[in-house]
Amino acid sequence: MTHTLIYPNSTRHNERGHLEIGGCDVVELAEKFGTPLFIYDEEAVRDQCRRYLEAFSSRTDDFEVIYASKAFSAVAMLQIVDQEGLSLDVSAGGEYHTALVAGFPRERIFFHGNNKTRGELEYALENGVGFVVADSFMELDLLEELCAARGLRQKILLRITPGVHAETHSYIQTGQEDSKFGFGLVEGIALEAIRRAHTSEYLELVGLHAHIGSQIFSMEGFQRAIEVLVGLIKDAHDQIGWSCRYLNAGGGLGIRYTEEDSPATVDEYAEVKVRGLEEAMTRVGLPVPRVLVEPGRSLVGKAGVTAYRVGTIKEVPGIRTFVAVDGGMSDNIRPMLYEAKYEAMLANKADEPEDTLVTVAGKHCESGDILIRDIEIAKPEAGDVLVMPSTGAYAYAMASNYNGNPRPAVVLVKEGQAQLIVERETYGDLVARQRPLEGGQAGDR
Ligand SMILES: Cc1ncc(COP(=O)(O)O)c(C=O)c1O
Repeated sequence: MTHTLIYPNSTRHNERGHLEIGGCDVVELAEKFGTPLFIYDEEAVRDQCRRYLEAFSSRTDDFEVIYASKAFSAVAMLQIVDQEGLSLDVSAGGEYHTALVAGFPRERIFFHGNNKTRGELEYALENGVGFVVADSFMELDLLEELCAARGLRQKILLRITPGVHAETHSYIQTGQEDSKFGFGLVEGIALEAIRRAHTSEYLELVGLHAHIGSQIFSMEGFQRAIEVLVGLIKDAHDQIGWSCRYLNAGGGLGIRYTEEDSPATVDEYAEVKVRGLEEAMTRVGLPVPRVLVEPGRSLVGKAGVTAYRVGTIKEVPGIRTFVAVDGGMSDNIRPMLYEAKYEAMLANKADEPEDTLVTVAGKHCESGDILIRDIEIAKPEAGDVLVMPSTGAYAYAMASNYNGNPRPAVVLVKEGQAQLIVERETYGDLVARQRPLEGGQAGDR
């Protein structure tokens, strides 16, 4: 059975007993575009962008919602986000390039990263990036050198590590002091960074940024991070005479992957980010900066599902039944990386009772390549189309070619129409950039 809590709202079972999303029969999509296939419901993405904008605009008129494109960076997706009026976060030169190809307005792009290379920074500066979020003293030096050489004065924010532990998997906590990201508060490091940037001829320090982690359900960590940042803003104001115009309080709002998950709503999130900041700024007697938020997962996660084709079914008597699909860790590493939990159903048996306990395995040469351990689905057979919901964020984005698996195709569905937005890779793509051994014999292509 489908549950709209974890599937896009347009999801239904059609008269053929198939799963339908955005008016498209998922079994037909699998036949037409092949599997594994990422399917995004366009209206679900747009709705979520609007939900964010409404939640913030009903509380303040000085804000920006920035899509963290690392969650899923594709030209068409960035164009949707632009049409909806959001700004953009890129975390590497390639994501910036994708944004440029999408025609995303450069002045609304924020460039992140704890180790931006000289080449990436040059590319961003020469192509007019709106803001650089500087992460280290070395980066400040490099930025100054590059800006000086080009006669530029670049708007920047500083990434601060507020020393806050987010309640989430340790791999996606980023706000604790012991972190590779940003300027910590101990021994006045963050304050020193503000002083450095503020007095630079080539840098215009407009604000601060902090991102404490991802897939966060409770709002307490965000509140604490805001308070820490406001303390720093106050110190910087009193000791350096610097005024903070932008406060980017990061992304991080969690989503439901399973029925049991219970994340806060976008409204609750906006309340903490806007009211929490207003109250903290009022307490220190300083003007409230523009509130920037940077969600990734919560904008696109629920809008996307993955469709796989069932292949080998193996029963281990008395232990479990493995249902292997034609993808796995190369299109969704999250179960292996963070023990992430997912649900699934058979799209061609949407109305059949889900009474068979199985483990959904991938096709890669790793025993750990298990997508879902112990889930009840309709009785599976080879050829069924298995759908995993809530795969719109950090699945395709982290895809690899492990074991020589071409990366899947991605389609956008809306009102019964499906548009291919990322083509499936071919075997040819896998070797397109490889060169044979000099003097060796080339085989068939
Ligand atoms: C700096 C920064 N901003 C925003 C995000 C987006 O986080 P989420 O997808 O949890 O909203 C991330 C994710 O890791 C991040 O590192």
